[in-house]
Amino acid sequence: METVLSGIRPTGNLHLGNYFGAVQNFIKMQEQFNCFFFIADWHSLTTHPTPIDLHNNVTQILAEYLACGIDPEKCTLYIQSDVPEIAELYLLLNMNAYVGELERTTTFKDKIRTQPENVNAGLLTYPVLQTADIIIHKATKVPVGKDQEQNVEIARKYARRFNHMYNVECFPDPHPFNFGESLVKIPGLDGSGKMGKSDGNGIYLYEDAASIRKKVMRAVTDGGPQAPNSPVSEPIQNLFTLMKVVSTPDTLEHFTQAYADCSIRYGDLKKQLAEDIVAFTTPFKEKIDAIKADTAYLKKVVALGTEKARESASNTLQEVRKIIGFRNF
Ligand code: TRP
Repeated sequence: METVLSGIRPTGNLHLGNYFGAVQNFIKMQEQFNCFFFIADWHSLTTHPTPIDLHNNVTQILAEYLACGIDPEKCTLYIQSDVPEIAELYLLLNMNAYVGELERTTTFKDKIRTQPENVNAGLLTYPVLQTADIIIHKATKVPVGKDQEQNVEIARKYARRFNHMYNVECFPDPHPFNFGESLVKIPGLDGSGKMGKSDGNGIYLYEDAASIRKKVMRAVTDGGPQAPNSPVSEPIQNLFTLMKVVSTPDTLEHFTQAYADCSIRYGDLKKQLAEDIVAFTTPFKEKIDAIKADTAYLKKVVALGTEKARESASNTLQEVRKIIGFRNF
């Protein structure tokens, strides 16, 4: 069975784009594949060296994943820092990773620009740690967005380099996995681009109704249709796309018609959209709160995830130690 692996940094709450774009597909994948889903808290330190509340950030994402239906019995759901084997593999991989090639990665070059005051070595070797994350479970499918494809390609390069250097077939090739047909792209509220690109263009699963209404009512629109059946501009198409995922087909049809015959009032469309988003997210919010309050359950989930992840990771690490030449006395 193929192994799927996905990591998320605990630096922000899940927005609707994450939910429809990825998490919904994770729920399906956990039925079919050997899935590893983890929270990359070590990675988050490369940009947030002194997080205000690391533990709460991790708990939040964990509760959100669980509320969405990620099932700790069906997959391996864990926290990166609970698996020390990853750190050891990272150390070993660093010996075969070259500074020059790491300096040339797009994400590193971006970070030099966005945080020139903190160009730490963790940033430079970020792709090495990500490689360790992936290959420690011998994952072959890595669901990522466009911005992460290069990191998966680097993981493939390092997996192959390891195999080649020691003349073994230890690691299979990891590949970026985009969900193909089932990928739903959720746009933001700022008129162009996808949700999550910039602050404030997204709606979170964990967001109160008043804030959702405010954001939706402020969403970018245009001057309105000038003639029957006129083409739909990007900002309006984006609102229709959101409506398609949270509203009933009748509602979508109603506003599509109203646009076509020029009777549409964007205020009405936004009001309806806001209410439908609130109706969609409210049960998630309640579930997230209930899970966060149930510390005994969270403890159980984390213990199970740690156990399964460490079992898989230590198997690989033992193999790697042997290949490199470490022996027990
Ligand atoms: N770098 C990823 C991101 O920023 C998070 C991540 C860490 C990851 N390790 C991973 C993703 C391993 C996939 C596989 O989104």
